[in-house]
Order: sequence, then structure tokens, then C-alpha cells
Amino acid sequence: MKNKILVTGGAGYIGSHTCIALHEAGYDIVVYDNLSNSSKEAINRVSTLIGQPIEFVKGDIRDAESLKQVFSAHQFFGVIHFAGLKAVGESVAKPLLYYNNNVSGTITLLEVMASHGVKNLIFSSSATVYGDPETLPIDEKSKRSCTNPYGQSKLTVEHILEDLAVSDASWSLIALRYFNPVGAHPSGQIGEDPNDIPNNLMPYISQVAVGKLDKLNIFGNDYPTVDGTGVRDFIHVTDLAQGHVAALNYLEGQSHSEKNSVEKKPSIGFLPINLGSGKGTSVLELVSAFTVITGKNIPYQFADRRAGDIASCYASADKAKALLEWEAKLSISDVCQDTWRWQSMNPQGYNIS
Ligand code: NAD
Ligand code: WQD
Repeated sequence: MKNKILVTGGAGYIGSHTCIALHEAGYDIVVYDNLSNSSKEAINRVSTLIGQPIEFVKGDIRDAESLKQVFSAHQFFGVIHFAGLKAVGESVAKPLLYYNNNVSGTITLLEVMASHGVKNLIFSSSATVYGDPETLPIDEKSKRSCTNPYGQSKLTVEHILEDLAVSDASWSLIALRYFNPVGAHPSGQIGEDPNDIPNNLMPYISQVAVGKLDKLNIFGNDYPTVDGTGVRDFIHVTDLAQGHVAALNYLEGQSHSEKNSVEKKPSIGFLPINLGSGKGTSVLELVSAFTVITGKNIPYQFADRRAGDIASCYASADKAKALLEWEAKLSISDVCQDTWRWQSMNPQGYNIS
């Protein structure tokens, strides 16, 4: 058995897929989640898919006592930290909730990690930290700026991690900046299950396809892009999950060389890495690919641009390839196929009662 990893937010969309990838790579995992935006059913299904129960603790990252109990009960190599709130619009309405949950929660987690001598962290950051990019593709040296509290909470955590790495060289802190995560596990058993009406494009399309929503509103058709609609870097969630395994392997490689060398090698400090496919796909291209792959017509109408949206956003994925030996393998067709399998097998998501 390989190292033991604490997965905060492991019941969520990206976390649940990553739990499977971690198990398949031989890691021992403990999931810590308050289920504020997820269902225990996701954990049950992950357990079924991997053929053994997942160790699950219901808890909040802002609860230091609860975290301390978990860290005292297990010897963790590191933490993969997905736990956070992620709805941009809600963050504008409830900024204190977002800063409290995402920033204060991460500080509490880091304090408990430090007190237990666990200094390896993989943090879920976001391409949102790049704001409206000056050049494309976006590499990790691009200027960072955010225009909403959700994005600010991610950027603030990145600053905290940078300061922490400067203050104490024994920390290894990787910030994975995800582009647009989409798709579902090929089994159709786990996938994205938004509360209420989806904010994001892919779950909106699949809910139109399954008949839960009438038609898609396409926000803007006058952007300076291939067809006037927004362009994004859609990354399949199982590729993203593999990116976390690759980051963990990288962290382990660093700590092994540290053990074997006579002189203490520095830890990796703060390391930001983009996880994207490197390809831009427009909203209309995604809608059309979904129809071709699934045979489902997606009625749509053009609507005004959505406040805060940018025209185009796609990653330079070179750093992930060079350092982590990771690159996206799955296509937009795979994304559409797997999203539709999940949505059609689970029209009500995890709400099976
Ligand atoms: P998600 O909401 O499905 O998963 C987040 C999980 O964290 C949920 O299970 C939720 O219950 C849990 N959680 C939230 N606050 C918590 C707290 N205080 N204590 C314990 N658990 C808590 O979201 P996701 O799409 O899987 O995203 C995972 C992470 O990746 C988030 O940090 C998100 O901001 C980040 N991210 C997501 C996207 C995206 O588009 N999905 C893009 C970039 C970054
Ligand atoms: C994609 C494109 C929309 C819905 C968001 C967050 C970002 C990150 C990923 C967490 C845009 C268009 C959408 C719809 C549409 N999350 N669209 N009709 O905005 O790129 O990124 O999720 O970190 O922080 O902001 O993703 O899926 O909402 O939108 O036309 O009903 O689809 O205008 O061009 P976005 P999205």
C-alpha cells in the first residue's frame, strides 16, 4: 500500500473522481467532507466502483478540533484539498460565506497540518485567478487578477500558500489551476450533480437533453471568437483526476530524493500548475458536438453576455507535461458521451429517493 492521503471535499464532483484514480494508483485515502454541496451517495458509489468501503469522515474544514482528531488517527503523507464553495454568482451575494469557507477554512486546515507535521498539499485552484487574460494560451506566469469573491478567495489562498512556502522551506504546496472541468466517470455512476439550475454550460446542456430544462441560453454571440460565442478549455474530469495522481507522484519523488540525499534538499515550495487540455472550444462547438455524439437536439437561443464573462480562455499545458508528465488524453467527444451516460442514467442526479 502506498502513502495515505486526506482528501477534503472528496464527496464532490472532482473529488469523487479523484478518489477512484487515487485508489487505482494504490493510495490509501480518507475523505473529509461536510456534504454541504454533495451527497453521501457519491461516496457509496465510489466504494462500489472500487470494490471496498471508503473511509469517510463528515466534517468541516473550519472545525479545527474535528480535523485534529482525523490527523491524530492517521499518518498522512499529504492532503488533496478540494473542499470549497464554487458558485461565482453566490459568492457575489454572500462574500463573507465564501471568504470564511474557502479562505478561513484553508487556514485552519494548514494550521492543523503544520501541528501534525504534514507539509504536502495539493490545492484546487482555478483558471479564474487569471481574470481576463492578456495573451493566449495562458501560462502560469500570466498576470493574476480576479473580479468576484469566489476568484478572490482562490487567489488569496494562493498568496497564503506562497507566503507559507517563503516562511518555512519544508512545505510543498502545489496549486493546480483547473480550466473548465466537464464529463463524468465512464461507468455512468458518478458525475456532476448541481443543486438547482446549473450555472455551468455542460450540466445545463445535459439537463436540456434529458428534458429537465427547455432550452439553453447562449450568453453572447458577439465575442471576437471563431463563431462569436465564448471559448473555453474543457477538461475531462477523469483526466483532471489523473492530474492529481501525477502531482502526488511528483511530490513523492521530491520527498524520496530528500530522504536519500545527505544534504537536505529543499521542498518544492509553492508550485502553480495549469490543468487544461490546451485547446479552446466554443459554446456552439460544444453544443454541436453534444448533438452529434448523443443524437439529442439542444434547442438554444442567444441571450445577452453574462456579466463578468470573458471571450476566450485556454491553457498552456506545457508545465504539467514537463514536470508532472501529465497531459489530457480525452476528447470533447468523450466528454459528451460520458456526460450523457451519467445524465441519462441519473436524471435526478444522486437524488434517488
Ligand atoms: P463540489 O462542490 O462538487 O465539491 C466540493 C466539495 O467540498 C463538496 O463535496 C462540498 O460538500 C465540500 N465542502 C465545501 N465546503 C466545505 C467545508 N467547509 N468543509 C468540508 N467540506 C466542504 O465542487 P468541485 O467542482 O468538485 O470542485 C472542487 C474544488 O475545485 C473546489 O475547491 C472548486 O473551487 C475547485 N474548482 C472547481 C472548478 C469547477 O468548475 N468545477 C474549477 C476550478 C476549480
Ligand atoms: C462557459 C461558457 C458562458 C452557461 C466557471 C467559473 C470558473 C470555473 C469554471 C471554478 C461561457 C457560456 C454558460 C449557460 C452559456 N469554476 N454559458 N450558457 O464561466 O468559463 O467558468 O466555471 O473555479 O471560475 O467562472 O464556465 O460553464 O459557466 O461557462 O452560454 O447557460 O458557456 O457564457 O462562455 P466559466 P461556464
